[in-house]
Amino acid sequence: MNKQMQSILDARKKNIMLSPKKGGSSDIDAIPYLREIGVKLIERPQSIQFTPNINEHIHRWAPYVQGFSAAFVQSIIDQYRKVYEKPIIFDPFAGCGTVLVQAKLNGYESYGVELNPLLQFIAETKLNSWDVPPEYLIKIYNSLPKDKRASAPSFLRTDRQFRPGVLKNLEIIKGGIESLEEKNRKQIKVKNLLRLAFSSILIESSNLKRSPCLGYCKNKIVEDEAPFVLMTQKVHQIADDLKVIRTQYKDFINVKSEVIPANAMTYQHNKKFDLVITSPPYMNGMDYVINYKIEMSWLGFANSYEELKKIKDEMVVCDNVSKRLIRQFYNSKSTYTNDWIESIKFNISKNIEKRGNYRRLDMPYIVHKYFDDMHRAMKNVVLSLNSSGRFILVVGDSLIADVYVPTDLLIAKIGMDMGLKVEKIEKARERRSGQIRSYKLRESIITLVKE
Ligand SMILES: C[S@@+](CC[C@H](N)C(=O)[O-])C[C@H]1O[C@@H](n2cnc3c(N)ncnc32)[C@H](O)[C@@H]1O
Repeated sequence: MNKQMQSILDARKKNIMLSPKKGGSSDIDAIPYLREIGVKLIERPQSIQFTPNINEHIHRWAPYVQGFSAAFVQSIIDQYRKVYEKPIIFDPFAGCGTVLVQAKLNGYESYGVELNPLLQFIAETKLNSWDVPPEYLIKIYNSLPKDKRASAPSFLRTDRQFRPGVLKNLEIIKGGIESLEEKNRKQIKVKNLLRLAFSSILIESSNLKRSPCLGYCKNKIVEDEAPFVLMTQKVHQIADDLKVIRTQYKDFINVKSEVIPANAMTYQHNKKFDLVITSPPYMNGMDYVINYKIEMSWLGFANSYEELKKIKDEMVVCDNVSKRLIRQFYNSKSTYTNDWIESIKFNISKNIEKRGNYRRLDMPYIVHKYFDDMHRAMKNVVLSLNSSGRFILVVGDSLIADVYVPTDLLIAKIGMDMGLKVEKIEKARERRSGQIRSYKLRESIITLVKE
C-alpha cells in the first residue's frame, strides 16, 4: 500500500473513532423530523428481502439480491384485499418483477417500469411466459445444437471471471440458444426462457460471488461441466413451475402484465393504479448496472463500459455516480428542494470541511440529486394514482459524514408536498451503517394515500 492510501485509511479510521454518531441510532435522530410531520413510527419487524424467493414458484427463476420477498408483497396485497376489489398494481422500480409476479399470482393486472434492460427482460419473461408448454421447453432445451459456439463478451475480463473449460461450455450453450428460430410467439417465448435460465447460471458458473456486490471468491472451484448441470437444473425448475401454473393458476395465465423499459423519472403511464408497491434504489446503496455487468453483457444488453455507464447515469443516483453528472446537476436550475434537504446539505458540507477529506467531496449534491430524482419519479406515480389509491414505498435511511439523512421521512414529506396523506410509516428492520457500524439505521415501509 502506498503512503497516500495509508494516510487516507488512517484518516478514515480516525473519523470513525471520533464520530459523534458512534453507538447512536436513527430512531433517536429522527425524533425532530417525526414531530414536524406529525407522524409516529410503528414497529413492525418483518422480512422484506428476496432470499426466501429461491423456494417460490416463478420468483426463483432468477436470483436477485435486491428484490422484495414474495411474502412481503403478498402481505401488502392481503392488507388491502377488502379495500380494493380488483386493484391494478404498479411498480415504478420493478427490478426483477417480484411485485408484478405476485400481483399476477393473485389474478390482478399489473404494470412496471424498469430502466435496466436485463432486469426488465427478466421481469417481462417471468410474467409473460406462463402459456409455454413445459414439455416443449424441455424438448427445445434437449435439442440445442452443441456445435454453434458463440463468443463471450469481449470487453470484460472473461478469462479471469471463468475457468477456461467453464468458459468454453458457456459459449456452447450461448451459441445453441442464439441459433434458435424466432418465427412465432411460442418460439420467441421459449428462447427468452432459455436466455433467462442462462443469465441466472452465470455467476454460479464463475469465479465470482454476489454478496451483495460482485467480488472474486478465492476458494471457489467450478467444474468444467457446471454450466450444463446448472442449466439443466434451471430449465427443469422453470418447466416444473410452468406445470404448476397450468394447474393452480390457469385462470390467470392471460391476466395483463407489462414491464415498460423506461425511466421512472420521465415516463408517464397512461393507466390509473390503485396500489403502487415499490422499493426505489437506496441512496448510498447498490450499483444496479455494474453489479449485473456479466449477465448484461452475455445477453447482449451492453457491449462496452460506455454503454453500461450510459444506463447508470440515467438511474436514480447512487454514491458512485460520475462527477460530471453531479456537476451538471449542480448547474441545473429547476431542481426540487425543501428546508430539510438544504439543512442536511449544509451539515454534510460543514462536516466534510472539518474532516478535510471525504470519499466524495460532492456528497451534498449527490444527496440533493437523490431527492430530486425521487421527486420526479413520485410525481409521475401520483399523476397515475386513482383517488383513494395507495403508494407504498420501502426505503432505508442513511448516515453521511456524520449527518443523519431520514430518507423515509423525507420521502413522506415529498409525498405530503404533492398532496398525499401519510397513512403510516412502519419500521421493518434495523440495519447497521456502512461507515459507523455501531450506528443503527432502519428500513421502513411508508404508506401514502391519495385522498
Ligand atoms: C431496489 S430495486 C427494486 C427491486 C424490486 N422491488 C424487485 O423485487 O425486484 C430498484 C430498481 O430500480 C431500478 N431503477 C433505478 N433507477 C431507475 C429509474 N430512473 N427508472 C426506472 N428504474 C430504475 C434499478 O435498476 C433497480 O432494479
